[in-house]
Amino acid sequence: MKNVNHVITTFKESIFATLTNLAREHNAINLSQGFPDFDGPDWVIQNAKDAIAQGAQGSNQYAPLQGILSLRQVLSKIYKRHYDLNYCEHTEVTITNGATEAIFSSILALINPGDEVIIFEPFYDSYVASIKLAGGIPVPVTLHGPRFNYQTDKLSEAFNDKTKLIILNSPHNPTGKVFNTSELEEISKLCISHDTFCLSDEVYEFLTFNSNVHQPMATFPKMKERTITISSTGKTFGVTGWKIGWTMASPEITYAIRMVHQFNTFCVNHPLQIAIAKSLQELDEYLILFKKSYTKKRDLFFSGLEELGYLPIKPQGTYFIMCPIANKTKLKDVDYCMELIKKKGVATIPPSSFYMLSNDGENYLRFCFAKKDETLKTALLKLK
Ligand SMILES: Cc1ncc(COP(=O)(O)O)c(C=O)c1O
Repeated sequence: MKNVNHVITTFKESIFATLTNLAREHNAINLSQGFPDFDGPDWVIQNAKDAIAQGAQGSNQYAPLQGILSLRQVLSKIYKRHYDLNYCEHTEVTITNGATEAIFSSILALINPGDEVIIFEPFYDSYVASIKLAGGIPVPVTLHGPRFNYQTDKLSEAFNDKTKLIILNSPHNPTGKVFNTSELEEISKLCISHDTFCLSDEVYEFLTFNSNVHQPMATFPKMKERTITISSTGKTFGVTGWKIGWTMASPEITYAIRMVHQFNTFCVNHPLQIAIAKSLQELDEYLILFKKSYTKKRDLFFSGLEELGYLPIKPQGTYFIMCPIANKTKLKDVDYCMELIKKKGVATIPPSSFYMLSNDGENYLRFCFAKKDETLKTALLKLK
């Protein structure tokens, strides 16, 4: 029998499956994967029930390839209102199956075999897989703790004639870093001088704390035409299982993305698009409570870790905390993570698999604090 696609054979089963099984076996509190252990708001869930029950406008049948118009319209208005960005709902907005499909379709739309793609590590794990499936070459640049800044010389050296795309993720999973204006300016200038596209993964756009402000890369001079802005509502509404995401890009890039989307998934869950379109109309009021609740969770868990003698790094955004482990153990991240599951009954993520170049990840654990307050308090008690 002939072999399967040789690119796939380079993909290993992630450590997360093993850890999830171990966590289940030890009945551990799960602070590993990035999703809430509570439901999204009742009114958002009700909007989905209504959309299915009413069946209006064929809501239980295929949706249009590009996504339903009402959702594209409301998104277009949000980008104008929040960021002063103009995206045409007809030619520049595409609804995808979560940000993950948006990333995959955008990379396939842009990358030819041999093209280089710069990624910051630690990275969201779908980037490397998508780049490799497109025949591209991932070129990592490390964000070193504790501030997770990149080294300017390393970033400039990563750009060359083969560079087609850079992937930026801000607010950043897993470090909680929000890229600041001067970093974004520097990256944008490199993109322009090397004629490079930018895929800007902004799924945590509304999850920033204190004075940290999210700035979409597309707002920087001459960047809108070369940037694919990607986001989704999984994190914002706490419904990660709904997988409603999107891309915002120029008509030319959007056309290419839609062609990949057309022959991959064709379209996205219709009633949930209707529910999200309706829910997004209440976005601004909702965000006030949303930020307040997550700021409280961050502070609760961060100070709890400090009281236990950890030296966590305060996230500027996202719902993750990166925590150095050297003052607690001689073990590396994967082994320490297993020890915490077995001995303390708390599951976390060992970040070393989010790196290609550096061993930095071995020195941290990632905690997810998108959990009920009582879950966070129980986890802290168990970690004692
Ligand atoms: C940085 C980043 N990008 C994309 C995604 C995927 O988003 P979605 O669930 O909308 O596919 C995640 C989910 O954890 C993420 O952390």
